Amino acid sequence: MIEKPRAKTFTKNPIIGTKFTIAVSSAKGGVGKSTFASNLSLALKKQGCKVGLLDADIYGPSLPKLFDIGDKPESDGQKLIPILKYDIQCMSIGFLTDEQTPMIWRGPMVTSAIKTFTQKVAWKDLDFIIVDMPPGTGDTQLTFTQEVKMDGVIIISTPQEIALQDVKRGIKMFDKLETKIIGLIDNMSFFKGDDGKKYHIFGEGGVKKTAEEFKKDFLCEIPLDPEVGKQGDKGIPIVESNPENEVSKIYLELASKIKNLYL
Ligand SMILES: Nc1ncnc2c1ncn2[C@@H]1O[C@H](COP(=O)(O)OP(=O)(O)O)[C@@H](O)[C@H]1O
Ligand SMILES: [Mg+2]
Repeated sequence: MIEKPRAKTFTKNPIIGTKFTIAVSSAKGGVGKSTFASNLSLALKKQGCKVGLLDADIYGPSLPKLFDIGDKPESDGQKLIPILKYDIQCMSIGFLTDEQTPMIWRGPMVTSAIKTFTQKVAWKDLDFIIVDMPPGTGDTQLTFTQEVKMDGVIIISTPQEIALQDVKRGIKMFDKLETKIIGLIDNMSFFKGDDGKKYHIFGEGGVKKTAEEFKKDFLCEIPLDPEVGKQGDKGIPIVESNPENEVSKIYLELASKIKNLYL
């Protein structure tokens, strides 16, 4: 008798030391994924959660810059100890390589880097780990989603049509791999002028429409605010440096929503 070919199944390993792992994913680079992941982590902390931030964007790690961390993590002999900054346990491939080194990775190296960062880090007593994923729906992201048990993923995009095409691909990938999509974020969705008017520079409503089309939650719009970029460049993200800023308030509200969803 000929056996039916079975779909390949994967064992998803949970990250040890946290109650929940939430990934931040984007279809493209440059849409504000790392800015979002770092500000969301800080907002969750301000809501009283214990938070870790794993910068898993091995091609373009940005946590060293966003949190202004120049130290190398120490090891306890078995595991790497996360670096504590702003009360957040942080880990990034960027802590281990110098800023100028281009990252040229081949498949097996990517897999082993993912294993190291998910299984060989001494995360401790966390409610949430926020994972800044590599962008796109290529092999790296696929491997990550197959290997690591994630309790939810937030997909972030900008409103341009070209970004939305990739978002749809991302939604399909997570659905197929049975990773719960918490919802979609529309980042840099408008600019508020001095006249108080909203200017939709990159188009309007596309991310929300995509969410509706795929029956996913639309979480929020985050305006384009030069202050967000400036504070990120300084190594103190906006939620930490100016919690009263309008963008910070959006993050705090979102963090409260996520906290209530899980804890
Ligand atoms: N809401 C925002 N308003 C203004 N600038 C933003 C906003 N979100 C992100 N940026 C800026 O956009 C650029 C890309 O963001 P980044 O988080 O590095 O994107 P990604 O991780 O997706 O590549 C950065 O210069 C960042 O400061
Ligand atoms: Mg990034």
